[in-house]
Amino acid sequence: MVKSVLSERKTLHPSELERRELPEHAAAAVRTLAGEIAVTVGPNPATATTLNDPALLCHIDARYRELPADLHEAMRPPATAAGVTVIGRLPLSDAELGPTPVDWREAAMWAGDPRQCAASFELDIMMLLLARCAGEPFGWQGQQGGRLVNNIVPTPGHEHEQSGASSTTLLSPHTEDAFHPQRANLLMLGCLRNPDEVGTTVSSVRRVELAAAQRERLGRAQLPILPDVSYGEGFPDTHTPPITTLADRDGELTLRFDPAYTPLDDADLEFRSAYRHLAEELERVCITAALTPGELLLVDNDVVVHGRVPFTPRYDGTDRWLKRVNIRLSQRRRDAAESGEDGYGQRVVAPFRTTRGSST
Ligand SMILES: [Fe+2]
Repeated sequence: MVKSVLSERKTLHPSELERRELPEHAAAAVRTLAGEIAVTVGPNPATATTLNDPALLCHIDARYRELPADLHEAMRPPATAAGVTVIGRLPLSDAELGPTPVDWREAAMWAGDPRQCAASFELDIMMLLLARCAGEPFGWQGQQGGRLVNNIVPTPGHEHEQSGASSTTLLSPHTEDAFHPQRANLLMLGCLRNPDEVGTTVSSVRRVELAAAQRERLGRAQLPILPDVSYGEGFPDTHTPPITTLADRDGELTLRFDPAYTPLDDADLEFRSAYRHLAEELERVCITAALTPGELLLVDNDVVVHGRVPFTPRYDGTDRWLKRVNIRLSQRRRDAAESGEDGYGQRVVAPFRTTRGSST
C-alpha cells in the first residue's frame, strides 16, 4: 500500500473555486418540491433504507423538470479547469436535522423515522432532485446497502480508514470508486453540518505539470486499483486487468487515481517515479473547500481527485454530516478498454439509467 504524500493543509483558496449562486426562488423551489414528494410518498422504513422505491423515483423523474431553469443551469458540470463548483445555498436549518447519526445504517434508519430526524428524508429527496437535474443518480449494491443517497459521517472505530467514515486520518486524494468502470462522472456532496469547517480537498489533473515521458508512462496500463474498504476487504489484486492512470478525452487529460488502493510496490521504478510526481503535482494544485450547511460541491470525477483533511470527531450528535450522490452523465464516454473490466463484481443500482450499456 502507498502512503499518502499529501500533508495536512488548512489554507482555504475560495477564489480558485468556481462558485454558482442560487437565486432564492430557485433554492426554495427544490426544497418545496422535495417536501411535497416526501408528504406524498411518506417516510417509511422500507423506502428510506435505499430510496430505491418505484413510487418515489417516479415522482422525481416526473417532476424534476418543473424546477426553475436557474437551478438546472447551476447543476451543469463544472466549467473550469479546476473541475469543481460550489453551489449554494439551499435552505436548511440545523434545528431540523436532529443529531448527526453515528454511521450510515443509523442515518438510513432515522430517515424513515420522523421522530429521529424530521428533515432527513426530505433532504434525501432534495439531493435526488438536484442530482437528477445534473444527470443520472445511482448507487452501489455493495455500498451503504445500495442507497441512492449516501450519508458521510465520522464513525466510531473507523477513524483511521481510507473511507468517508474516517476522521482523524487524512483521507488521501482519490477518484471516487476508481476501481470500477462504471464509476461516477460527477460526484455531488451536500453539506448539512460542518461546525469545525473541515476541509474537502480537490485537485484537478488539468492543472498539473508533467513531462511528456511521465504522461506517456502513466497512460500505459500498469497496475489495478482495488475496491476501497467501504465495499469490504480481501479483494485479490489479480482480479481485473491493470488500468491506465491517465487518459485523453477530446484532447484533455482525465485521471483514475487512488494511491491508497493501488499496489504501487508491484510497479517498475519508472512508473513509480512518474506516479509519485503526479501525486506531488496533485498536492501542489490542491484547493481546500470548507463547505457550510446548504452548500453543494459538484466534483468532476473524471478530472478531479478529492479527499479530506483530518479532524477530531465529536461523537456528540453535532458532527460533520454530508450527503453524497454519484451521478452518471450519459453523454460522457470513457476509454473502450474499460468495458472489459469486471469491477470486482460490484454492481450499480441505477434506476434512472436512460441508455443501455455501461458508462464506458
Ligand atoms: Fe471519496
